[in-house]
Amino acid sequence: MADDPFDTIMASLDTPMVVVTTAMGDERAGCLVGFHAQSSIDPHRYSLWLSKANHTYRVMLRSGFLAVHYLHDGDDDLARLFGTTSGDDVDKFTRCATEEGPHGVPVLTACPDRLVVRRVALLDEGGDHVCVVTEPVEAFSGGRFTPMRLSAVDHLEPGHAAEERLVPPTERAGGALGS
Ligand SMILES: Cc1cc2nc3c(=O)[nH]c(=O)nc-3n(C[C@H](O)[C@H](O)[C@H](O)COP(=O)(O)O)c2cc1C
Repeated sequence: MADDPFDTIMASLDTPMVVVTTAMGDERAGCLVGFHAQSSIDPHRYSLWLSKANHTYRVMLRSGFLAVHYLHDGDDDLARLFGTTSGDDVDKFTRCATEEGPHGVPVLTACPDRLVVRRVALLDEGGDHVCVVTEPVEAFSGGRFTPMRLSAVDHLEPGHAAEERLVPPTERAGGALGS
């Protein structure tokens, strides 16, 4: 059977991969993200989509700032750490080099290309990911680079599958997990 045309188009785009981190108090969180893009020129806006299943999503709901780290081709260890393990089980930040960045966000020191962004809006239209609209407040770059792309990491098994979210998806669902 032919591939789904939507999936074919998305795979052809071969998105660059980022690691998004955030923190609330002592609780640090971060995950590998493929859903992200600039979403306004004036004012600057950057949007990313976090899975409701992720530890990072839950910490983001209580924090105002995030860091977006642009992975380079070859950053396989960081992609595996942040994409296949969950902060629900392990502290990823003890397994890589980090420092406290602007506004208390955890920064991955191995990633010279990054944004620090302030959360300005959330859009949840019932899907498994929530759109986080942000305003860039600081940008750092080590110069032009070759990004790590989805095709290099699409074999990785996510720490949380997107289906692992509350069903029905309401605040009163009371903790029942979907299959
Ligand atoms: C190739 C790939 C792309 C991913 N893209 C996203 C994404 O766009 N948004 C997201 O929230 N999670 C994404 N994930 C899933 C999380 O990175 C993964 O479930 C992670 O282990 C969650 O960690 P956490 O529970 O500590 O937040 C992706 C995972 C992989 C392997």
